[in-house]
Formats: sequence, C-alpha cells, structure tokens
Amino acid sequence: MTARSKIIGTGSYLPKRILTNNELEKIVETSDEWITTRTGIKTRRIAGSGEETSEMAAEAANKALTMAGVTAQEIDMIIVGTITAEMVMPSCACLVQKEIGAENAFAFDISAACSGFLYALEIADRYIKNAPDMKILVIGAETLSARVDWQDRNTCILFGDGAGACVVTGSNDEDGLLSSQLYSDGRLWQLLSLDPAPRCYCPVVDYETIPDRKSSYDGSTFNMAGRDVFKYAVRGMGDAVEILLNKEGITVDDIDLMIPHQANIRILKSLAERVNLPFEKVYTTIQKYGNSSAASLPIALDEANREGRLQKDDLLLFSVFGGGFTWGVALWRW
Ligand code: UT7
Repeated sequence: MTARSKIIGTGSYLPKRILTNNELEKIVETSDEWITTRTGIKTRRIAGSGEETSEMAAEAANKALTMAGVTAQEIDMIIVGTITAEMVMPSCACLVQKEIGAENAFAFDISAACSGFLYALEIADRYIKNAPDMKILVIGAETLSARVDWQDRNTCILFGDGAGACVVTGSNDEDGLLSSQLYSDGRLWQLLSLDPAPRCYCPVVDYETIPDRKSSYDGSTFNMAGRDVFKYAVRGMGDAVEILLNKEGITVDDIDLMIPHQANIRILKSLAERVNLPFEKVYTTIQKYGNSSAASLPIALDEANREGRLQKDDLLLFSVFGGGFTWGVALWRW
C-alpha cells in the first residue's frame, strides 16, 4: 500500500490583542448587531509587535513539533500558505526555518489566499507518497490587519490574524489523507483581490488602538464583491464535497466533523445545508477569530484537536475557498 499522509501534531498561535465589534463601531459606521447577524463574528485577533506573520507561524510550528515529538532538525520541508508574508523575499517559510532552527529543511511559500493551507497540505502529500519518511511542517499564517483599509466597513470587519501548523509524515496505517481535490478559476479573480500589491515590507506596528493602525496602512485595497464571493463559495465547496464523497463511495452521514475555512457563519450554514450535513458537525471559530485566510483552517484543526473533539478513526472533511478563485476539499481518517 502507498503511504498515506498523516498529521502527527498540530499547533496554533493567536495574537494577544482582541478587537471587538463594539470597538469597530467607533472606527467605521457599523454595529455589533449587523456584524453578528451578517457574519457571525464577535471578535477577531490583531497582530502587534513581535507578532509578524513569520513569528506567529514559528510559534504555531513549535507547538505542532512538541505535540508530534519531532525536533526542528528532523523537519525536511516547510511550506507556508500565506498572502501576507512580511517580505516578497525571503519567503515566510525561510524565516520560520531560521526562527525554529530547522536547518535540514528546504522551505517555500505558496499563494492561494484562503485556500493556502489546503494547497500546501496537498503538496506535502505528493512528497510523502514518494518519500514516506519525510517530516513536513505545513503552516497557514496571515497578518491581514496590516493590509486592510480600516476605513472600509465592507472588509475591515471580516478579517483577523493568526497562524496554524501541523507536522505531516507517512503512515502505512488505514488513517491519514484518503482523498483530496483542488480547484482554481482565475477568470473570476476580480471578484476578490488585494491590489495594488501590498508594500514589500509591511511590518505590524506597536499600538494600543486600531485607529493608530491607519497610519501603517499601505495603500493596498481588498476589492470584494461580497455577495458573489458568498455564492461561489457555497456552490464551489458544495459541489466539491459531493464529487469527493461520490468518488470515495461514502455518504455525508459517514462524516464525523467538517473543518472548513472560516469566512462567514452564513456561508458555513448554507454549505452544510447544501450537502445535508447537520450544522453540529461543522467546527467553527469564526465567532472568536473572524476570517484569518490561510490560517483559519489549521487554527480550527488545532483547537478541535486540543479540545479532544477528534477521535481516532473519525472521518474529517476539510473545505476551503478564497481569492483566485481557489478552493478545495480533503477527506481524512484521523
Ligand atoms: O475568505 C473569502 C473572502 N470573503 C468572503 O468569503 C466574503 C463573502 N461574503 C460575505 O461574507 C458577505 O457578502 C458580507 C459579510 C461581506 C456582506 O454581507 P451581505 O449580507 O452580502 O451584505 P451586502 O454586501 O449585500 O450589504 C448589505 C448592506 C449594504 O447597504 P445597502 O446598500 O443595502 O444600503 C451595505 O452597504 O449592508 C451594508 N454594509 C454594512 N452595514 C453595516 C456593508 N458592510 C457593513 C457593515 N456594517 N460593516
């Protein structure tokens, strides 16, 4: 049997600063009621000094290594899914390598917006199939707060910062990654973009209040046709789930837990309804952390894992959707 990719450790890092909806009411014309009912978000985390994308990623990676019982020197490869690395060069992954002391690894970033973690996991899986002994750190890390226009109520209320990581290696057991499928549709890029490209070096700043953050705003803008993104996200992930379940010859009743990208509670409810999955089986962190792009799935995975929500042999469904458009699904036997 070909080796399967197995997650042997998870970790996450959330910035200390909690930004509430009530605070946002003082920055843009919005209300706790609007944000809660339209998105499900109550608070989000905002990175500050010492919480650059690579620093949060390294913290999450160290926690995943500890859980896995693997040293940084044993890591062969580091992949970071991110659209908010501090610099265009070097990659966030190389900074993580330096920070954790993984000198035997090679390291690179991939850009697939909110789908970045699942894309990275899929790449790791291809390496594991050829070299099952490899130990790979797969990370999703973002500092969207440094790119958001804090005067644009359409987008600034949605996003948060953080990082999640996992250690992946090969296994000959029945568990691990059973199947996955990635998709892209570049024709629709204008429905969700961040342009002009963010400043190459966009450090987070030390600050107490969010209005101060306006001074660090780098001029890039989230262009988002919210309703269209919503529609495509539900349809894209819904169709992908159905195709995957059919391919594997299982039904939605076999799924123990779905861990999706966290963009909007209404997207998650519509997705669950579309594929006939009871919403109790959808793991959510959106209320606490908002949308942290590529970091949202691995943060949710780590929280579910540490809460004891994942039992051995559980069938897990990952689903993601983001700018590009990019999207995908994966089925895991835990
Ligand atoms: O990770 C992938 C990235 N993004 C997404 O997945 C986002 C997907 N889309 C969404 O989550 C939702 O479309 C949003 C949460 C962004 C918006 O919710 P919506 O129910 O689609 O609202 P809308 O854009 O249709 O706006 C409805 C109204 C508008 O006012 P009018 O034109 O009806 O008078 C907006 O101007 O709500 C207004 N509005 C706000 N009001 C208070 C927009 N943002 C706000 C706000 N506070 N923050």
